[in-house]
Amino acid sequence: MTPETGCAGPLSTAAVVLVVLSSEGRLASRSACGSHRPQRAGGVSGRRPRWPKTCLATKLALRASGKPQYTAAWVRASTISTGVSPTYRDGERVVLTRPVLHACGGRQNAAMDALADRITRHADALERDRRSPLYIALMRGAADSARRDGPVADVFPDGPGAPGSVPAGRLLAALHHLVLAGDAPQLARYYASVGGEEPLDHAWAAAEATIEGNLEEVRRLAARTVQTNEPGRSAALYGALLRLADRHRLPIRLLEPGASAGLNLHADRYRYVVAGRPLGDPASRLSFDEPWEGLPVEEPWMVESFLCLSERCGCDPAPIDVSTQEGALALLSYIWPDELDRLARIREAITIARAHPAIVEAAAAVAWVERRLAKPHPGRLTVVWQSVMRQYLGETERRQVEDRIEEAGTHATDEQPLAWVALEPGDDHLSNFTITCRSWPGDGRGVTIADSGAHGPPVSWRPAHRD
Ligand SMILES: C[S@@+](CC[C@H](N)C(=O)[O-])C[C@H]1O[C@@H](n2cnc3c(N)ncnc32)[C@H](O)[C@@H]1O
Repeated sequence: MTPETGCAGPLSTAAVVLVVLSSEGRLASRSACGSHRPQRAGGVSGRRPRWPKTCLATKLALRASGKPQYTAAWVRASTISTGVSPTYRDGERVVLTRPVLHACGGRQNAAMDALADRITRHADALERDRRSPLYIALMRGAADSARRDGPVADVFPDGPGAPGSVPAGRLLAALHHLVLAGDAPQLARYYASVGGEEPLDHAWAAAEATIEGNLEEVRRLAARTVQTNEPGRSAALYGALLRLADRHRLPIRLLEPGASAGLNLHADRYRYVVAGRPLGDPASRLSFDEPWEGLPVEEPWMVESFLCLSERCGCDPAPIDVSTQEGALALLSYIWPDELDRLARIREAITIARAHPAIVEAAAAVAWVERRLAKPHPGRLTVVWQSVMRQYLGETERRQVEDRIEEAGTHATDEQPLAWVALEPGDDHLSNFTITCRSWPGDGRGVTIADSGAHGPPVSWRPAHRD
């Protein structure tokens, strides 16, 4: 092994011309560079080399690597040898895959390090919370794969993406999708969701082979935003609705930006057994057993009689149509495969949502919230509910949503009050989930009314008199 690169052979310093062709064989681009010798990173022994930023061929190959329409390169003028990949000879046509990228100067190491760090942080959070051994194992493997420029780097060639875009979640959902669809039998042996129960020692190897064998599909699926539509969060929403119903005693318009498939728009159609007594729909097939610590109101069983949802609707830039098989598969793929309780409850929630179709419009939060809050609704309490959506909005969009709701708050009266309830994590997107409520008329100040798990229960209520 050479100390500089970790490669088994010498690096060529010869000139290289790369001609990149589109998949139809048209000339897409041409580039050349003189030397492929890496510069040492600060001269620190053992660190990975940084490649000359000016190397056009490298840039060309990096650019083309994320784009399936550029699938081939024509190597001209010299051979390139890294020792780990084959030697490419003059005139040879090659597919732009990892070894070729290595040969052309490697990927942006910093981006892959950042990707690996992001995935590792996610795995650490899971480990702290003692959740999903399978996903901890797969995330550790994925982080390692990114760090050594393995197949995970092919899935995310540009690195981890914006904060909150959870590459680990997207990758694992893509793999779970393949498993649930029956397209990854080797990997399925580790997935309890399809009856797998093998020890996890070789789970990552199977995942890596699955990624390599289904690279384009994994890329396509992993490009989607994580849409964990978690009906468990209804245990938080239902308590918040009781608190607001107790205060206002008006029918409620429930509006949910970032609703995904809209499973939480049915919060009153689920059953919650609290202190041994049912709340919600006592006949519901989706039941939460003792989901609360403390109570949102003193007598929830009495307050429930005031609770009535007169309207329920949501929006999402990519709503999931729960009535289709593909929609159901997508929802299931975001649930962790060894969390069988969550899988069982989302299956029930899908059945309930299919029986009571609710509208989830294809729209982003700002315009939709503005539109939905524009008209007065006398005799109604309007509740804007959001859960685990904030991290998907940019800073500007977040402020705009807040502005729109605050603006609507200035028109709220006792006859048509407004409340904004949010179940959101702390700054790291992964922990410290709280439920806050702002309401108008009044000063609209945010009050934390409960602490909650990422997926709802246990929801720990704070005393109502502090609202
Ligand atoms: C983690 S999911 C949460 C879904 C649902 N609120 C829940 O808690 O079950 C986040 C959702 O926010 C949506 N989203 C992303 N960008 C958005 C935007 N600009 N406006 C509204 N929703 C957005 C995503 O499509 C996704 O469905």
